[in-house]
Amino acid sequence: MGFSTDFFWGGATAANQYEGGVFEGGAGLSTADVMTNGAHKVPRQVTYTLPDGSWGKIPLCFHSPERHLPEGAVAALVDDKDIYYPSHIASDFYHHYKEDIRLCAEEGFKCLRISIKWSRIFPNGDDTEPNEEGLAFYEDVFKTCRSYDIEPLVTLEHYENPLSLANRFNGWDSRYLVDCFVRYATTCFERFNGLVRYYLTFNEINCIEYAPFVTAGLIHADEQNIANATFHQFLASAKTVIAAHNFWPDLSVVLAFGPVYGFSCDPADQLAALKAQDRALFYSDVQMRGYYPNYKLAEYERKGIKIPALPGDWDILAEGICDFLSFSLYGSQVLTTNAEELEVGSGNGGAEGMVANPYLKTNAWGWATDPDCQRITLNTLFNRYQCPLWCVESGIGWKDELVGDTVHDDYRIDYMRANIQSMKDAVEQDGIPLMGYLYWGCVDMVSNGEGEMAKRYGQIYVDADNYGQGTMKRLVKDSYRWYQKVIASNGEDLD
Ligand code: BG6
Repeated sequence: MGFSTDFFWGGATAANQYEGGVFEGGAGLSTADVMTNGAHKVPRQVTYTLPDGSWGKIPLCFHSPERHLPEGAVAALVDDKDIYYPSHIASDFYHHYKEDIRLCAEEGFKCLRISIKWSRIFPNGDDTEPNEEGLAFYEDVFKTCRSYDIEPLVTLEHYENPLSLANRFNGWDSRYLVDCFVRYATTCFERFNGLVRYYLTFNEINCIEYAPFVTAGLIHADEQNIANATFHQFLASAKTVIAAHNFWPDLSVVLAFGPVYGFSCDPADQLAALKAQDRALFYSDVQMRGYYPNYKLAEYERKGIKIPALPGDWDILAEGICDFLSFSLYGSQVLTTNAEELEVGSGNGGAEGMVANPYLKTNAWGWATDPDCQRITLNTLFNRYQCPLWCVESGIGWKDELVGDTVHDDYRIDYMRANIQSMKDAVEQDGIPLMGYLYWGCVDMVSNGEGEMAKRYGQIYVDADNYGQGTMKRLVKDSYRWYQKVIASNGEDLD
């Protein structure tokens, strides 16, 4: 009654944080490529230029009150000694993929999640022909995975969009992107037919509300722009699912999820927690049920927000529901409605009204480890959608210390052990159909929120600092050996 024999154990990565090689192979720039580095509580910035040749930077990335580039500005690279863009080198997977995939295979991986940089295939997002060098690169990556019996899980859009589409159309605000995306996805289905069985359309689709530039390439993001972009991504996802079924793959969107607890048994706290959870579940409600839930329609009506649907769109949403539901999960959140308890901004997600959980330990970035979050999440999602589930991201960032040629990362092992035990309980005791577990950032890479290397997630260490300086040598950590044992025992040996 444990994990199924074909359970996908493995790890997850994303091009914008891992791949590098931004100026190689004919790739075009993406929105991630104009995001500077940051640090804990030092926001990443988007650089831009103005028609008069001047430039500036603005914290448009996460949880920022800034939602607009200055009038007439375009997001662009600038050449200045104080500006550093971490995606350009990242962990240099572009040149190390054979070595990394071999190390993952030796760890026992059954699956490796990789994202395709859309602008490596279509440099401007809507070019007439795809870039052959980009297709050939990913084809070889997937062939290398297959040569080790590793199933590639491919995210089509992970926190980056072609920069040109962002600047010309305000990203996903425009319906034009729907067909561009479907064309890009179909190009991948055709080219990688027989190599890639599972795709994910949009990473953490629900994070658009606090990261509209990062998720949807919005350089102007008021609530109506966000609602437009959301609808267009739903439509693109549904059309992509329909298109995929003419080929081989099964698809899902990725939901960023974490249980939300009310701080006290004050009913107001419980209601706030329920509503916060609905805020995330709206996205999976549409993608798994095929229509907008009443609570969202009521909210839009209250705010005067219009859904930019055209005749026929609702049928497409209903037809193109996902084949399974994948989610990322790092921990849980606690909400209070009591002003005296308030400590806004700590922990994962930084939602309004959030307080620290006195029962849980946190890492240096305030992210709490919740030993029950997997079981609670799996029950919540399965009871709501009755579909196969897949945890495609879960991990812990730490300031790892290299000792000799390894890292003694007991904290990471503890985190993983708690997560895997919690999943196991859900599978064994609650009968949840779980397809797999992918540890986030299996090879060290640049953190998304901070744009720094110092927040490491990997089981494989990469010798590079916050500025991409280092040998890029790969070294295995204690957690690598521990996970190897877990996978070999199909999750039975967690000691
Ligand atoms: C997820 C993202 O939200 O969290 C990843 O999908 C990201 O891209 C991960 O790296 C961890 O967040 P961070 O900010 O610590 O890198």
